Formats: sequence, C-alpha cells, structure tokens
Amino acid sequence: TGFHVVLPAAGIGSRMRADRPKQYLQVAGRSILEHTLDCFLGHPGLRGLVVCLAPDDPFWLRLACAGDPRILRAQGGRERAGSVRNGLQCLLEHGACLDDWVLVHDAARPNLARSDLDHLLDALANDPVGGLLAVPVRDTLKRIGADGRVSETIDRTPIWQAYTPQMFRLGMLRDSLGAALAAGVAITDEASALEWAGLSARLIEGRADNLKVTRPEDLDWLRRLWGATS
Ligand code: C5P
Repeated sequence: TGFHVVLPAAGIGSRMRADRPKQYLQVAGRSILEHTLDCFLGHPGLRGLVVCLAPDDPFWLRLACAGDPRILRAQGGRERAGSVRNGLQCLLEHGACLDDWVLVHDAARPNLARSDLDHLLDALANDPVGGLLAVPVRDTLKRIGADGRVSETIDRTPIWQAYTPQMFRLGMLRDSLGAALAAGVAITDEASALEWAGLSARLIEGRADNLKVTRPEDLDWLRRLWGATS
C-alpha cells in the first residue's frame, strides 16, 4: 500500500522539563525526531512525508536530515489538530490525492517496529474508514474522587490506549479535523476527530513498546532498550 506520513512535531513537551522540546532530545547520538523519521524513510510504500514544526523552532535546521529533499515542512498549530491539518494541506499542495492513505505519527514515538507499521498497512488496506495502533490497558483502573481517594474501580476489558500511527484517507481526515476544529471540540488524536464526525476507526493491536516519550525516565528506558550509552 502506498501512503503519506504527517509527523506533528510542534509541541513543547512540558512534562519532560527539559531545555528543548522532547523530539529534539538526544538518544544514541541522534534526536528522537531523527529516529522517528527513520521508521518511515526506508519504507518502499512511502509517497510523501511532512514534518509540522513550531513557527519559531530553532532546532530543526541543526539536524543532519534538515536538507533531505524527501522531507516537506509545514507550520505547526497551537493544538496538535491544527498542526496535522497544516501537514495535510502541505501534502495536497505537493501532489497527494484526497483518496490516498495518510499515517499521522507522533514525532516523540521513535520505537515504532517495522512489523507494526506493516501490520497496520495490511490490516486496513481495504477498510472504508481506517484505524490506529492501540494497546489494551494492562493495569487496573481507578477513578478518584475530589478527596484524592479511590471512588471506583473501572472495568478495563473494553479500554485501550490509542497509539500512533493513525491511518485514514487524507480527505476524510482533513474534513473531520476541520469540522472538529471549527466547532472548538478538544481533539487529542486523529481518531477522535473521525468519531466526532460520526465515523469509527478500527483498533489494530500493536506492540506496547511503541511508547510516546513523555517523562524524563522514558529516555533512560529507550537507551536501555537500544543498548545505547548516550
Ligand atoms: O503533547 P503530546 O505528547 O500529546 O504531543 C503529541 C505529538 O503532537 C508530539 O509529537 C508533539 O510535538 C505534537 N504536537 C504538535 N503541535 C501541537 C502540540 C503537539 O505538533 N500544537
């Protein structure tokens, strides 16, 4: 299956408490964002790829891959959904079609396995809507009350964590994101925009280690996983 990729990379990553956005932190000699790009740049199905960057981003141009002619750049938005919408527009301006598949993947998720990517592409190739990689919740879930104590244990069997890539038809995703943004609804992933438009995404079970780097300890976890010393 041929596909396009949007990498939203315009977030500030405040939970990381670092001197730069998490996608620019170094692991194993390169930035997280460069590791993420590698998951896609070597794939024979890749038709186009766009990175969405904050307007005042001083870090991108320092990366070795900044001059790679295969990588398009779009301006990030205030919200992730705005960044993705700008990325989709950029792909359309560079020859993508409304019926093409597009995969949206967090810049801060550098451990996507090729087998997961291929599994997603295969599983959804004939799907009318599209879907996303996801992982069933493994821990017991609690709701807390205003007093900070457990008020309830939640049945976890139907609860999944939404990962990325999230794969949809470009036109369908653009229209759903546009409608959700115009209505001012909070959209934290692409599938929520589709849901808001009345369309339901398929969940494809992926590997639990396709984690989004979020907290400082995630960097050490990645280094151990990759056998890296820096
Ligand atoms: O903050 P969070 O971890 O949910 O961000 C997920 C991804 O969305 C990150 O790769 C981040 O850079 C991106 N993002 C963006 N534009 C924003 C906010 C987040 O591209 N305005």
